[in-house]
Amino acid sequence: MTGTTQPVPQAPHIRRAVVTGSAGFIGSHLAHALLREGTTVIGVDRRHETSDQSAAANLAPLIGQPGFIAVTADLLNCALEPVLLDADVVFHLAGMPGVRPSWGTQFGAYVQCNILAAQRVMDAATRLGVPRVVVASSSSVYGPTTSQASLETDHPHPASPYAVTKLAEEQLCLAHAGRPDCRTGVAALRYFTVYGPRQRADMFIQRALSAALTGTTLRVYGDGRQRRDFTYIDDTVAATLAAATASNDTGVVNVGGGTNASLTEVIQLAEQLTGRTVPVEYFTTRNGDVPLTRADGSRALTHLGWKPKVDLTSGMAAQLQHLIRSTARQAA
Ligand code: NAD
Ligand code: UGA
Repeated sequence: MTGTTQPVPQAPHIRRAVVTGSAGFIGSHLAHALLREGTTVIGVDRRHETSDQSAAANLAPLIGQPGFIAVTADLLNCALEPVLLDADVVFHLAGMPGVRPSWGTQFGAYVQCNILAAQRVMDAATRLGVPRVVVASSSSVYGPTTSQASLETDHPHPASPYAVTKLAEEQLCLAHAGRPDCRTGVAALRYFTVYGPRQRADMFIQRALSAALTGTTLRVYGDGRQRRDFTYIDDTVAATLAAATASNDTGVVNVGGGTNASLTEVIQLAEQLTGRTVPVEYFTTRNGDVPLTRADGSRALTHLGWKPKVDLTSGMAAQLQHLIRSTARQAA
């Protein structure tokens, strides 16, 4: 394990890539890494820089960069062939994330953005013969697990509507790839709780660091002993880039780790890094939340040549520095 000063992940040689979800947390970092390698990036998202603060922050490093073409469009109804035409790879990261809100009235939007959008992307990609689609799946497909690390061959037990849609999404993409007439290879990456600069505001580490800086109360769902294989954004991007050029039989791969930690350990780290106390209030465990995620990394190593490099302390320190800088910019 090292700190975050490791060299920026090296993109394999990709001439032209489509990144869906480019105004999002992971998609914007991926697009930036591709641009640094000289790839032409067509970034597709239904949000744009005036949509909300997080889209603006995510897009800021991309807008105006040579090689970046922003397409503001909804994957559910836009014409996809002109967007995907001539791409070497489509990174399909657009979707509705978040485990806990998926029980409510938003379920239809989860189905649309995670399943129907993937169907449209795969349909267009296979018709055009795009060589590779890399799709963002989720550790949540495993559901409740024991202390054993989850293997890609484990039987999935998704425990939330969100997780069900992510399992459907990855399997749908793989079903397209399995057609005898299909020239498109699919890699489905099961990301494990990704964190780092510009992490979504609904996620725990971002909330813990904000609470430490502002003194607002952090709401913990459950007793804080649930554990996650937290995965730093640069590691996530490196695995995603590797999946673009990995062999066609890559299939499903866990992208997880760096550090397995409980929420209580995350709070302690936030306190150490800021030198401040985090006020905490405990609430009941939310439906669909699992007590533990832990990735078996063997397949990622053999198929992607990838393993996580950034430990939680270094990764959270980088996230904290970014949060301090962006808060100061907003206040100025
Ligand atoms: P995010 O919400 O920051 O980004 C997703 C982006 O997709 C958003 O900008 C949104 O506007 C866009 N989008 C959604 N539906 C769209 C549509 N119909 N048309 C066009 N754009 C659309 O989320 P994120 O954390 O960056 O997650 C990216 C992907 O990774 C998602 O598929 C998510 O399910 C998956 N994932 C994330 C994590 C994590 O820890 N962040 C873990 C596992 C899997
Ligand atoms: C995260 C992403 O949000 C999902 O989109 C993704 O699919 C999933 O990772 C994954 O790995 O597949 P989650 O692990 O729930 O989901 O990550 P957080 O939202 O950061 O939550 C982590 C834990 O903190 C959960 O137990 C949650 O209940 C808890 N939490 C979160 C709180 O106690 N309080 C909060 O304010 C937020």
